[in-house]
Amino acid sequence: MKILPYQPDQSGMAYSVGTTLDRFIKSKQSDFPFASGELSQLLRDIALAAKIVNRETNRAGLANIGGAFGQTNVQGEEQQKLDVIANIRFMRALSKGGEVCAIVSEEEDSVIDLQNGSGKYVVAIDPLDGSSNIDVNISIGTIFSIYRRKTPVGSPIQEEDIMQPGKEQVAAGYVLYGSSTMLVYTTGFGVNGFTYENSLGEFFLSHPAIQAPKDGKIYSINEGSELEWTPGVKNYVDHCKKSQYSARYIGSLVADFHRNLLKGGIYGYPSTQKNPNGKLRLLYEANALAFIAEQAGAIATDGVQRILDIQPETLHQRTPLWIGSEKMVNEAMGFLNKKREAVNL
Ligand code: F6P
Repeated sequence: MKILPYQPDQSGMAYSVGTTLDRFIKSKQSDFPFASGELSQLLRDIALAAKIVNRETNRAGLANIGGAFGQTNVQGEEQQKLDVIANIRFMRALSKGGEVCAIVSEEEDSVIDLQNGSGKYVVAIDPLDGSSNIDVNISIGTIFSIYRRKTPVGSPIQEEDIMQPGKEQVAAGYVLYGSSTMLVYTTGFGVNGFTYENSLGEFFLSHPAIQAPKDGKIYSINEGSELEWTPGVKNYVDHCKKSQYSARYIGSLVADFHRNLLKGGIYGYPSTQKNPNGKLRLLYEANALAFIAEQAGAIATDGVQRILDIQPETLHQRTPLWIGSEKMVNEAMGFLNKKREAVNL
């Protein structure tokens, strides 16, 4: 009997499809010397729910699941049907896996205790961000943060398990349902992006080791709010115009962030005179993107301090957010408070 070592095909007749998300997650498990595979499984659960939500968002125009649900969420925002569906999908995936003990969701008033005795992770999630864009077929996203619980596994969930600053995240990511669907995540060892291959039903590594440009020429801010801006924000945006930066703002945080991460730019949702805390939520929007930004060499601040250092006090706490290329964010900080040095993160 002849036995030959496997020789990868060199003919080019069948192109290689590359590394699946699953295989990549498995190959990175050794980054955590004491991990028992639960975090890997949790990431796979999220990816599965993302595939289902991707299917639902793609069908939205046909399946009568576009439009408003008829209720408002805890933020007082009108819930879209897909917000509710995405929330159910992620809740189900996270509760079945067994790795998670509690979930904070944009769509739920309270912390959801999964009453899962073995779960050592807490997940904060915005199941479908930018959902007012669904009906007009514009990119939307999912944002998630993963924390290790502080109290012993199996004991009742405590406030300290939930109210952790972003620097305690063990993983974070987002899914962008755009012209193609992508999942981008970090476990604190760089940032990797995966593109969904519809026909195979798999995410494949397409953007390994993402590095954000140190500088950029794109600014993303809702200029319709100018009348509410502080003089510092106004001066900064005037500066962007004088410098002939490009204005790009979709109104879908994941999409705006993703573009700026790859191309170089800044996204700003400032505090205004009316809303000193801005609009975006710390636990399931700002923290995850700040972790990813820093892992890719970019930065994120609320205008005063590093996002990842903020100690949350309430579940649905809002925060101003300036996030993106290091030089641009520091330049913006110079305008926000002329007397203070640009934040050195
Ligand atoms: O989560 C809130 C959100 O929809 C973000 O995705 C987006 O960047 C922002 O609000 C848009 O807010 P506005 O309509 O005030 O510009």
